[in-house]
Amino acid sequence: MNNDIQQKQKPQPLRVVHIETLNRKGQGVGKTDAGGKLTAPYTIPGEIVEVRKIRRREGVLQQILAPSPHRVQPACRHFGVCGGCSWQHIDYARQLQYKCDRVFQRFLDCAVPLDRVSLEIESADPFEYRNRMDFLWWHNGRFGLRERGKWYSAVNLEECRLLPEAVMQTALEVNRRVKELGLPYRDGKHKIPGLRYLIIRRGVFTGDIQLSFVTDSLRLPPVLWDGLEHVNSVYQLVNDNLENDNSDGEPIHLWGEPFYRERIGEREFCVGPRSFFQPNPVMANRMVDFARQTAAAFKTKQGLIDLYCGIGLFALSLSDCFEKVIGVENNAEAVALAKRNAGGSPVRFACLEAEKWDWPDSQDYDALLVDPPRTGLHPKIIETLKTKPFQNILYVSCNPSRGVEDIAALFDVYELSAVKLFDQFPQTVHVEMIAHLLRKS
Ligand SMILES: C[S@@+](CC[C@H](N)C(=O)[O-])C[C@H]1O[C@@H](n2cnc3c(N)ncnc32)[C@H](O)[C@@H]1O
Repeated sequence: MNNDIQQKQKPQPLRVVHIETLNRKGQGVGKTDAGGKLTAPYTIPGEIVEVRKIRRREGVLQQILAPSPHRVQPACRHFGVCGGCSWQHIDYARQLQYKCDRVFQRFLDCAVPLDRVSLEIESADPFEYRNRMDFLWWHNGRFGLRERGKWYSAVNLEECRLLPEAVMQTALEVNRRVKELGLPYRDGKHKIPGLRYLIIRRGVFTGDIQLSFVTDSLRLPPVLWDGLEHVNSVYQLVNDNLENDNSDGEPIHLWGEPFYRERIGEREFCVGPRSFFQPNPVMANRMVDFARQTAAAFKTKQGLIDLYCGIGLFALSLSDCFEKVIGVENNAEAVALAKRNAGGSPVRFACLEAEKWDWPDSQDYDALLVDPPRTGLHPKIIETLKTKPFQNILYVSCNPSRGVEDIAALFDVYELSAVKLFDQFPQTVHVEMIAHLLRKS
């Protein structure tokens, strides 16, 4: 036996760890009895745990020697293996506290003072909140999500507490029919084309369900969706590239309506298979309320530009607060739906990259709403916001760590007037933020 193999087979040492904090993935980190530092997923600050060291700084939880008072029994049988949730072992009030503390600390680290604003978090039902799940068909027939930390392995799901039971049953029924028909699963390694993902999306306030099958160029028989309750729209997203594992492809409309509907506030929004929609519509409602209330108090309300507007959620929901509104978005499907969602309202939409927007008639617009992807604002946009300041900016961020950095970059020109967190993602480390920036006088 060579040394390498001996090394691999040697049982790794057990360590007692005093968990002190959570890292950015929400995993406990603490000091070992030997004086080192170890990360231990599924632990809580204050706990003393026994961990098996698997890498230099990483351990696997073996037993809890002194549990936290905030430890609870996870609701889902797949918790700990499934890559979907990371915090089901922490009581919900404590999850909210950790999210607030983390964002508060981020503002401190980026030297943006929070002394004049309070940091509150809004929350609702911590389970069954998601409107979208991308179920994976693995080459061995497993149907579910990836295993936590293992892109090369999938967990077969029998339940998912982030979806209502009826929606989960719809997904499982589609999988049952797939098995009955003996349809092939894609195997990238052996270049076998087949099924890759089932994306299930739903209107939480309408009941609509949209199914999208991400596949190679396969023919899908209607028996896969025939008679499924609430399913109003079916797509195939064709992705013939066996090299990637995206849950996306060229859309073919197979059956029903070309979109599903969601209702937020007084408005109905049509959502297409490749358009973004906020993942937790109950929270999206609260975010829209907050944005409306904040905008209502702006001293001037000439015009609003909504950058990264998607299907028009904010642009349309705020349209009665401003004399004119324009939305900018780079996804053509989303822009077409935004125009449709506008109905008779005079809101305009432009399809292009936000960083290529050349700010025409900018003197007519005194407010800006930005809701960029996790990567934050393009540097060109940050520069424009400094040289062409708006009176008011609403910064919506699904990644406050990055959002606060952008706010810090704008801090010479804008002050922070209000900030609120919205727990769109219970049982995970993620949180949504809306900040109101006011031009300094
Ligand atoms: C976080 S979503 C927000 C969408 C919308 N505000 C909402 O609440 O539904 C970000 C949006 O930005 C779009 N996007 C991503 N990169 C972009 C870019 N460079 N220029 C314009 N839009 C972009 C995405 O297609 C997506 O619709």
